[in-house]
Amino acid sequence: MSAQDPSKLLIVDDLPENLRALDALIRGEGRLVFQASSGDEALDLMLQHDFALAILDVQMPGMDGFELAELMRGTERTRNIPIVFVSAAGRELNYAFKGYETGAVDFLYKPLDSDAVRSKVNVFVTLDQQRREMQRQMAALERSRQEQETLLRELHQTQEELQRSLRMRDEFMSLVAHELRTPLNTLFLETQMRSLQLKRGTLASIKPDQFEAMIRRDERQIKSMIRLIDDMLDVSRMRSGQLSIRPGAVELMDLLERVVSDLSLQAAATGCKLSLEPHPPVQGCWDEFRIEQVVVNLLTNALRYGGGQPVEVSVQYAKDTVSIHVRDEGKGIAASDLERIFEPYERGARNGEPKGLGLGLYISRQLAISHGGELRVTSKPGEGSTFSLILPTCEQTAPAPVSA
Ligand SMILES: Nc1ncnc2c1ncn2[C@@H]1O[C@H](COP(=O)(O)OP(=O)(O)OP(=O)(O)O)[C@@H](O)[C@H]1O
Ligand SMILES: [Mg+2]
Repeated sequence: MSAQDPSKLLIVDDLPENLRALDALIRGEGRLVFQASSGDEALDLMLQHDFALAILDVQMPGMDGFELAELMRGTERTRNIPIVFVSAAGRELNYAFKGYETGAVDFLYKPLDSDAVRSKVNVFVTLDQQRREMQRQMAALERSRQEQETLLRELHQTQEELQRSLRMRDEFMSLVAHELRTPLNTLFLETQMRSLQLKRGTLASIKPDQFEAMIRRDERQIKSMIRLIDDMLDVSRMRSGQLSIRPGAVELMDLLERVVSDLSLQAAATGCKLSLEPHPPVQGCWDEFRIEQVVVNLLTNALRYGGGQPVEVSVQYAKDTVSIHVRDEGKGIAASDLERIFEPYERGARNGEPKGLGLGLYISRQLAISHGGELRVTSKPGEGSTFSLILPTCEQTAPAPVSA
């Protein structure tokens, strides 16, 4: 109810002509008059409306005005409604006393004096409007206090986030520097060795297979730096919404076989068995390069964090959706880290674990989302993790039927 709402007045009298006369007397702008011809009717109305004033006839058959007032005082909702009793002056003075005891506010005596009635009612209407205006102001004050509290909380949160970002930025810079420095150092050493051999004239003594191995080594260092820089570029493109996906027809099993075979060598070096569970071809409409990037990220993680245990890739197709599961048997991920690791620059426990920038899973999840899919993880510490890339396939590129 706003302060502009009319003040509601209740008049209770068993005689219709009294109700009519009183109604005409107190009616006015900014007021609504309700009539009740018995105590029960009055109580009913009081439960439905907030009254600024109840004018009760003392003498009524059944429940009289004082009994009604007593009931009103005993009920939470009606307890504070101001009451004016209308009584026959003189004759009911003993009643009047009783009325005060039950909490009556005022009395009007019959025959009613129009001016006295109006001015009394005016006082109560003014009081009611002031009370409601005060309530409105209190509510506004409370609202603004709550808004201030929320703002303050947000400010603190922003401040904490800012401090955390600053810490992470510093950490990230030193990590990037370290990650670039290592391959650059190796490459620099190689070039120094090569120029020394050139100076001494011993370059020709390097056998072709040694030479090839050197080139492969250099390539690996360069590729790891390119990957690092590409990841950073991807993150900034994703954050500014500029990463575009170029979907085309892709055969998933071909892609997985290629990636698994490419990474098998790396896996073998760590003594880990990498396998792909056979599955009939699955056609999809995706950006092949980006899906490959996600699978490579998941496999690289499984090899990095899988503790040298077997890593298995499997595929499930159901209802135009394909799920690619990468399962390892490594040390797993703590429940409290399961969501955090998908945030950019977030890495797991740093107790001597091989270091990355913490971008792989963030990029992978964003790529899954931009394909209309998702990237999930389930993990039990000590038992390994399964990362699942779930992708919708296009209608026209539904999987080939499984041959009987
Ligand atoms: N298969 C896994 N088993 C256990 N922990 C994992 C696994 N995959 C990811 N994690 C944890 O999640 C963290 C984040 O992974 P993410 O791939 O985003 O970054 P990263 O591997 O540390 O670095 P980057 O991928 O940028 O080289 C990792 O640091 C690691 O702690
Ligand atoms: Mg990674």
